[in-house]
Formats: sequence, structure tokens, C-alpha cells
Amino acid sequence: NHRNKLPPDKDNSASSNEYYNKALQQRHNYKTDNFRVLRLDELGFIPPCDISGRESVSALHRAKSQFCKQIIANISCLMKTNPPYPKRLPHQCPTNDIKNNKTLGCFRDGKEFKLLPGYKTTLIHTNSQDYCSDLCLQSGFVYAGVEYGTECFCGNETPEWDLKLSDTFCDMQCPGNQSQMCGGHYTINVIKTGVSKFVARVASEPLPNLQYDKSPVRIVFLLTLNGRAVRQVYRLIKALFHRDHYFFIHVDARHDYMFRELLKVELALSNIRLSRRRHSTIWGGASLLSTLMDAMSDLVQSSWDWDFVINLSESDFPIKSNDKLVKFLTMNREHNFVKSHGREVQQFIQKQGLDKTFVECEARMWRVGEKELPKGIIWDGGSDWLALSRSFVDYLVTGDPLISGLLQFFKYTLLPAESFFHTVLRNSPFCETYIDNNLHVTNWKRWLGCKCQYRHVVDWCGCSPNVFRYEDWNRIKNTEKKQVYFARKFEPIINLSILDTLEVWLYGEYPTDLKNRMSYWQNVYHYEDIHPAPDESLLKIGTSLARIATKLLTTSQTTCQIRSLDKLLQVFTYHHKDQFRGFLIQYEVIVSNSSTKLLLESWCWPKLQGIIIHNRDPINRLLNFIVSSDFDQKEQMSRDFIRIISPHTDPVLIHQWGLGDQSFIVTFLWLNPYGELANVTSVKIDGSALIKFVKPTLLTPLSQGIWTVLLVYENVTMAYTQFLVTPSQTNRETSISASQISFISKSHNYEQSLYEWENVIKVFKNTIKFEMKNNINDHLKTKMTSWIDSLILSAYSILETCIVIPCKSIGDCGLKNLVTCAETSWSSYSPDPKSEIISINKEFGTL
Ligand code: UDX
Repeated sequence: NHRNKLPPDKDNSASSNEYYNKALQQRHNYKTDNFRVLRLDELGFIPPCDISGRESVSALHRAKSQFCKQIIANISCLMKTNPPYPKRLPHQCPTNDIKNNKTLGCFRDGKEFKLLPGYKTTLIHTNSQDYCSDLCLQSGFVYAGVEYGTECFCGNETPEWDLKLSDTFCDMQCPGNQSQMCGGHYTINVIKTGVSKFVARVASEPLPNLQYDKSPVRIVFLLTLNGRAVRQVYRLIKALFHRDHYFFIHVDARHDYMFRELLKVELALSNIRLSRRRHSTIWGGASLLSTLMDAMSDLVQSSWDWDFVINLSESDFPIKSNDKLVKFLTMNREHNFVKSHGREVQQFIQKQGLDKTFVECEARMWRVGEKELPKGIIWDGGSDWLALSRSFVDYLVTGDPLISGLLQFFKYTLLPAESFFHTVLRNSPFCETYIDNNLHVTNWKRWLGCKCQYRHVVDWCGCSPNVFRYEDWNRIKNTEKKQVYFARKFEPIINLSILDTLEVWLYGEYPTDLKNRMSYWQNVYHYEDIHPAPDESLLKIGTSLARIATKLLTTSQTTCQIRSLDKLLQVFTYHHKDQFRGFLIQYEVIVSNSSTKLLLESWCWPKLQGIIIHNRDPINRLLNFIVSSDFDQKEQMSRDFIRIISPHTDPVLIHQWGLGDQSFIVTFLWLNPYGELANVTSVKIDGSALIKFVKPTLLTPLSQGIWTVLLVYENVTMAYTQFLVTPSQTNRETSISASQISFISKSHNYEQSLYEWENVIKVFKNTIKFEMKNNINDHLKTKMTSWIDSLILSAYSILETCIVIPCKSIGDCGLKNLVTCAETSWSSYSPDPKSEIISINKEFGTL
């Protein structure tokens, strides 16, 4: 019924029906490059134009809501006929741009030029005859730019200087404390590998009569946060806290827990404020620029007295003291710090997708085609981590045709915050305040970080930096003399020791009795959460374990009243010394015949690990062998510590191998809870140390119960591992019975595989007596709850239980033996002084 699917602004009058039918006839099909067809009745509305572009059609097919489809269609059409941004933008930079102005390109001995007001920079000598080169000196930095595209590296004659290699130019930072400028004489060698050499000497001095405002700058730390690493955010705030500085915090609109926890901090500290204008800030999304611009406008309008805004995320951390940062910015108060890409501009534009149109809806950036960049301006971009001066932010918020034009353009652009600020700076009256340094050291490991890992939220292959681990410490330590003040990324669930080492380096040794210095807790469920929606399987596991723990307490205390589980409140993962050490379930129980509710926490462990049967060469190289989900290719680990696999999860087999001197093939046989072969995968293991993962193709929903994966080498099962597909009451009827599985599998050449592996499986079943908690008839007979609990118990164990507040009235009950949570080392109630924000000294901000 097409009538009901007309767009909301069309009525059902005869004329609109006529229009609809005509359009339907005329544009019956939209053929695309890959011959997929877009049908109007599928679309449910008439798009403003014929949409034939492959990307738009694909986006329209994939988008779910009518709202999103309509935006995609509208923007696709608009881009073709009348792009919703200016064709030309004004370049308002009063002086020539450093790197793009070719008239500054070749210097002669003694030529003098003024780069920044108040600085005199002179090229004293050059012996370069080979090629044209920009050489300039700017506050705090020396640039030696070679022709775009030539490969070069920098060297110098004063070894204590730090030099950086980049594609097209080298930047050199001033030695020691000369943070404001590089006065004096410097020698720079730029060597074009194996071809020629360029040596230049430059001198720079401040011109006399330069007046500086020497009062220390006040900084707004603009935190854009997502996720649940609350204790890490507390630690970050604590490290940066000072009564003269401010925190303006935006939490992704989909992350309730982080927002609620930070509201408590906002209440306690007046220089911390949470933005109430919340966006769903997806990775690379246009919404990240709206978030930053909203925040800047709120900051300009606020009564806070500030000089700089620095944006940071939950995974940033300072690598120099606040004092040093303040000193540096105080001496550079009119400057703006952004990091440029360091490539040829056209190459950057393409790599970044600036010339592609993106539409943001359904928390995704949909690519719908090309777009033309407005002319008349210099394009620039790089990192989206910035330190911007008050005057520039005032200018951004006030706006002018350059800013409004660029904002319109970046509404349809991926990763807008990586280019918007750079481009405004370069083309605005603030161009001379541009400093090519984002004050950050970033842990780029592109061979790991560029795996298209954001495909679930953007139609693009994006890259991300890696998390710093203890092994990376030298990278941070080596920045001591550089003008960098922050590093990214840090994630305590992956590595906490690097943060510990960093803090000791910054602030000195901790007191020897500091509790839980190497422990970290991260919440994964809170009963008040609406967004993101709690994971049903996690709830199932948590509730079942709480029920089992309560039962254990009841039965072990003969004189005690029966207690029953009231509610699962929270779940945390617990990490100690950079190892996952289990998870904590926090729950309320009711003491019968009274209204007393007790708050308990139990420490649990996912116990299904890999088991080696024959520990001989080459299988003795096997270090880890588990099935989990949510494998992070960048960090080479599963983020699903609890190992929650629901009937609809894609399980992933993770196998890790130590170094060896030969290659060999292993085969993985996946047996479902009925002991039937469900998948066979062979993998080649070479001599290097490897973490590998295998994603099998399995029929979904997966059968509930314990699955087994055999590792077969030369027709012998050498090791096996098991995993639980979480049972679910609601899914019971959808689970596939044994006979169904056989039937389906048979139609997939199953018999051939079965025949081949039958003997291996038979031998394994005879050798290893493992329980098959599977049979659908069994669990229909018994009570569902006890079936679920018995399954959960075969995959998880309860290590210990503690009580949050010991209650005298229940002392007789035997619970008096229960340890108080705060006294344990594992409970989420155990003291965590490194992250306790309430202990901030409001005067000075340090402990
Ligand atoms: C960084 C840069 O931000 C990006 O521009 C560059 O291309 C790659 O390096 P990455 O480290 O991958 O990206 O992003 P991350 O720090 O995870 O996220 C960027 C910002 O978006 C953070 O402030 C983060 O809190 C926020 N974000 C991310 C959300 O608010 N919600 C999300 O779902 C994801």
C-alpha cells in the first residue's frame, strides 16, 4: 500500500496520488553500478531527484528509518544541483602563508624576513644550490620545508635538539626552556637521501619593545567523553585540577553511566561543568564539530575567566606538570596550537575524504557521493586535538562568512574537527597565530590501527592510535624536552602500569602504603542505565551468579533465615597488574521475614580456558586458546573480558603462539552443545610470535549451552577449549534442536567433513570426559532457572563474596563471617585513592 508510505508532507489528495503514481511509473527502478535496484515502494517516498549514484543507493538500502532515508535522499539530490554551502570562501589572512607562499621559497644569504610580529628571523648562510626550500623560524619551532613529495630527513649539529622526521618538512623544537622562541643561531641540515644536502644557518631574535602579558593563563579543559572508564576520567581530572582552571565536559548522549557519575563531581566542584547539549558523538561524525562549537559558545558566554581551551578525551593524559603547561601557554598566549598533516594538500584531501559527501543519521556517517571544495581558501587539517586561544575562540563563536561557510561545508564531512579549525586559522585574520603542534604525542602504530575498525559507524576506513603500554614508556620519556604536554591513548583496562610510571615521573613516588595502586575497576552494567541498553546475556549471567551466591550463603548457614536475591545492581571488571582478574557482581538480597536488604558483592571468574592435551612440539608454543567476542584487532585482544556470547553473537576464537622455527597447519573443529560438528577451519601458524583470531561461520541463533573447539594437528586433538552460549528463557523456542542442526548441516556438505573428522572427534570424546549440558529435553523437564544456573556454573565460578555494610541484626545469621567489601583488595568498594576525586584539595588541586 503505497499511499500510507507517502512522505509526511504529502497528503493523500488525488493530485498527490497522481504525482506519486506518475513518479512510480517514470522512475520505476534506479539501476546502480552494481545492479542493485532502488524501488520507490521500498523507499516509501518520492525523492526530490533521480538517485542513481552507487553510494547513495547503497546508503538508502542500508538505512533503517524513514527519517534517515529521507535525509540521505535530500542531501544526495541537493549536492547534485545546489550544494548547501558556498562555492567560494574569503581568504582573510593579512600576510603570506608560511608553507604555501612560494615567494618565500628560496632564501639568499642575509635575507631577512618577519614571520611573526615582534620576531626577526634571518637566514645567515645556506650552501644549498640544489632545490628550492622554505626555511623559517617561528615562535618555539624551526621549520625546514623541502619541496612537497621529496623524501628528506633532518639532522643537526647540536645533538641535544629533538628532531622529527616527516614526509615533507622537519620541525625542530627549541632546546631546554626557551619555550617562547628560538633565539640565537641554528644550523639545520636537510638531507635528501643519497642525493643532496642542504645546510642553512638561521638566527632569530625578539624585536625590542615587545610587551607580554605575564599573568598565568587560565585553561578550560574541554573533555569529550564516551564509554565507562569513569575512574580513569577521575584520575585525569585529578591530574589537571587547579582552582584556576576549568573543566567543561561533554558526554556522548548514549552514555548514561559516565554522565551520571560525573554529575556527582559537578555538584562537588564549581569549576567543573557538564554540557546539557548532548550529541551522539560517533567516531568521525559531524556531530563532534557541533559538540565542540556548542561548548565553545557556552564557554564564551559563561562567567568563567579563561585564556585557552584544550580539548581532551577519556584516553588522554598529561605528560608534563600543569605548571609547565601554564608557563608555556602564558608565553604563547596569542597562539593557536593545531597539528597539520604534513603531506601534499591534495593527497590529504583525498585520504581524509574531504571531497566526499557524508550524511549523519542513525548514529552513522553514510557516504553518498562526491563534493566540491569551496574555492579561494587554503585547505589544511591534521589532528583534532587542539589548544586554542581565547581571542580565536571568541572569533569562532562570533562568526563571519568564512566560519559560517566552513561550518555548512563540514556538516557533510567526515572527521570535521580534524580540518575545520586548521582551515579557519589559515584563512582568517588569525593566520599568523598558527603553530603546527597539537601539544600531543600520539601512539600511532598504523600497521595495527588502520584496520577499518569503524566500518560499523562510518562508510570509510579510519585509523586510530594505539593504547600506550608499559613497553612504550620510552616514547613518552623521550618527549621531556619537546613542547608536548599530553599523550594519547591510555586505557587502564589494557595497561595501567604506564599510567603509574607516568604519574611517578611527573609527581614523584607514591607513599609506600598507597592502596590498590595497580588495580583498576571498570563498570560494565548499572541498573539505572537506559543507554546503552544493557546486554541481556550479561544480565542473565550476573543474575544467575547472584542467585547462586545467595543460595550458597543460605545453605552454608544452618541457623540462618532464607535469603533471596532482590536485584542485580552493578557489574564491574576487575584488573590487577595489567591482568584481567575476574568480574564483580553487586546485588541486593532480602532477609526473609524482615524488610532488611543487604548489599553484597561477589567476585566471579570465567573459567573456561584452553586445555592442552599433548604438550609437545609444536603445540607447546600455544600460549592462549579461548573463545570470546568483541576482538579488537588494533589492540590484539578481546574486549569482552567476561566472555558473554549470546545466541546472536559472532564468537571469535583467539589463539596465541610463542616464537618457533617452523610453520605448520592446525585445524579447529567446532562442536555444538550436542557434540555435533558445526564448523571446520584450518590455519597456518608460522614461526613468529602471533595472536591470531578465527571467526567461524555458524548457524544463528547459536545453540545454547557449552560448545567445544578442538585444536587438531596431524589428525590428533592436541588441545581444546570450551565456551558457553548463554541460555535465555525468551530464546528457548528459537534454539535449534539436535535433529534440526543435523538436517541443516547436511545440506552444507556437512557429511564430507563429518566423515573426515569423525574418528578424531570420536577419539577425543572417549579420552576427555566432559559434560554435555545441552540436551533440550533435559532442560524442558527440569525447571528452567536451575538449568540456566547449572550451565552458568559450568562456565563461571564464584571466588568470594563480601558485604558492603555489615549489619548487626543479622549477625546471628552467620553473615558476620562475611568480610566487609572495603577491607578486601578486590571489591569495587576497596579504596582507590589514585582515582578518588573528592579528595582533591580545592585550593591547589593536588593531593
Ligand atoms: C583519534 C582522532 O580523534 C581522530 O580524529 C583520528 O582520525 C584518529 O585518532 P581515536 O583515537 O580513534 O581518534 O578516537 P577516540 O579518542 O576514540 O574518539 C575521539 C573522540 O570522540 C573522543 O573524545 C571520544 O570520547 C569521542 N567518541 C568516540 C564519542 O563520544 N563516542 C563514540 O562512540 C566514540
